Amino acid sequence: MAQILGIGNATLDIIHALDGYPRENDEVRCSSRTVSRGGNVANTLVVLSQLEHSCRWAGVLADTAEGRLVRDDLESNGIDTAACRLLDNGSMPVSTILLNTASGSRTIVHYRNLPEYSCADFESLDLGSCDWLHFEGRNIEQLEPMLRWSRTRFPSLPRSLEIEKPRQGIEALFGLADVLLFSREYARHHGYNAPEDLLHGVRDSSPQADLYCTWGGQGAAGLDRRGQVCRQPALAPSRVIDTLGAGDTFNAAVIHGCLAGLDTASLLRQACALAGKKCGQTGFAGLARAGS
Ligand code: FRU
Repeated sequence: MAQILGIGNATLDIIHALDGYPRENDEVRCSSRTVSRGGNVANTLVVLSQLEHSCRWAGVLADTAEGRLVRDDLESNGIDTAACRLLDNGSMPVSTILLNTASGSRTIVHYRNLPEYSCADFESLDLGSCDWLHFEGRNIEQLEPMLRWSRTRFPSLPRSLEIEKPRQGIEALFGLADVLLFSREYARHHGYNAPEDLLHGVRDSSPQADLYCTWGGQGAAGLDRRGQVCRQPALAPSRVIDTLGAGDTFNAAVIHGCLAGLDTASLLRQACALAGKKCGQTGFAGLARAGS
């Protein structure tokens, strides 16, 4: 069991399940409406906690009923929230999500009006007992000094960085982490049509890191720091019903595999298996349970 600190977002997700995607200006009824915690790092930590790691979350919470719901959810998943910054004013980031249960696709409309976690907040944390740091690739201005500070103060503490959205200046972070986790969205934005192409394309700016890139229904690829490339087809469930957080689940499984010292091929297989399992069920509950 490792001590893992995740730095990034927690959100309130309002998920409307529909058995088809509506047209613009339609009025439709959903089959269910669920309110839950979301956010990339928060979701990743929930899965890591199921995988029996001891997890802490560092991010910003609004001191509102919605903020309490998110905090209670994290804590009920065994995640320590003491490192969060609690704000009296501000509101929680909210995602309104249309989940098409016929295809599993999720369409997210995100609202955000909350300050970001700062480098000063991060530097005040006790990282002495940490075995792994996982960062969400957002808030680049503050993230860069966080990565540099942690590298200087704790040079042997491994760091992973999620690069999901193309954000201004994010490439400056590629040389500062040990594991980089790219999304298809980022790769496509930069004109790559296959995960291996993205990984080779960013190799020169991240020679120190193991690289991974997910590709939805086509699986994922890895390129380790010794130059070994691996491709793993998706391990899809018999029916895809909910892809919300599949990438976050993949990231958790990669971190878990790195901590277990798995080689790239085994690690990719396990990560695709867990992400596939996530797509075959609603939400995150019981993902790490064998045979479920
Ligand atoms: C899924 C997710 C949701 C959240 C949104 C934020 O990956 O983290 O839980 O609402 O993305 O971008």
